[in-house]
Amino acid sequence: MILNVNIDHVATLRNARGEKEPDVLEAALIAEAAGAKGIVCHLREDRRHIKDADVYLLKNNISTLLNFEMAMYDDIIALALDVVPHVVTIVPEGRLELTTEGGLNVLAVQHELITLCKKMHDKGIKVSLFIEPDKTAVEIAKSVGADMVELHTGTYANLSDETSRQNGELIRINEATLFAKSLGLRVAAGHGLNLDNTAAVAKIREIDELSIGHSIISNSLKYGLEATVKKFISIIEAN
Ligand code: PXP
Repeated sequence: MILNVNIDHVATLRNARGEKEPDVLEAALIAEAAGAKGIVCHLREDRRHIKDADVYLLKNNISTLLNFEMAMYDDIIALALDVVPHVVTIVPEGRLELTTEGGLNVLAVQHELITLCKKMHDKGIKVSLFIEPDKTAVEIAKSVGADMVELHTGTYANLSDETSRQNGELIRINEATLFAKSLGLRVAAGHGLNLDNTAAVAKIREIDELSIGHSIISNSLKYGLEATVKKFISIIEAN
């Protein structure tokens, strides 16, 4: 199981002043030096954090894998085909949301996904779909040609005060993981993972990748980015 670090919120902080610091690429390189095996960024329609130029800069300068999160907007699809990240993760996007609020409704957009997977595959780009930990969603992801699924852990994370419901959500994540693996899909998980709740997810050893952003960037204020990335890696390795 590897850790991918989402550096969107380094850009959020940079944009708060419209200046050059903190530097998104520098943060990505620190995360890599600390042991992250991939860098994740999400170019949103409103460009509220990552900007187009950041995506090129990251692709051209990081030495691990670039996982480019995107919704299916024509201009962003065109940018992905031009940048050629290693993986695109397709997410739903609402203009008014503070962060991605749930998995993609794969049934509603299955035809668009088939076309998108073909376009990305023609360029050698792998496709991951951000979905709810749900067997039907996994089945549809496989049928449209995705290489990978990322299971949404946000519901699990938000149930921190309700142990039995949270355990139920973990079971769903575990079952969806095993089902996806049985279909030959690679499996990632992410959203809302932090220093307290990552261990239980990391116990599901069939998960290949964790994608963590907000908690890494916020804990960096306390511990520094390098030490924080290392803390998350030790949680993964201890489980
Ligand atoms: N995975 C996906 C698909 C996301 O959209 C996000 C948020 O950008 C994350 C993982 C990371 O979530 P968090 O910032 O809560 O760690």
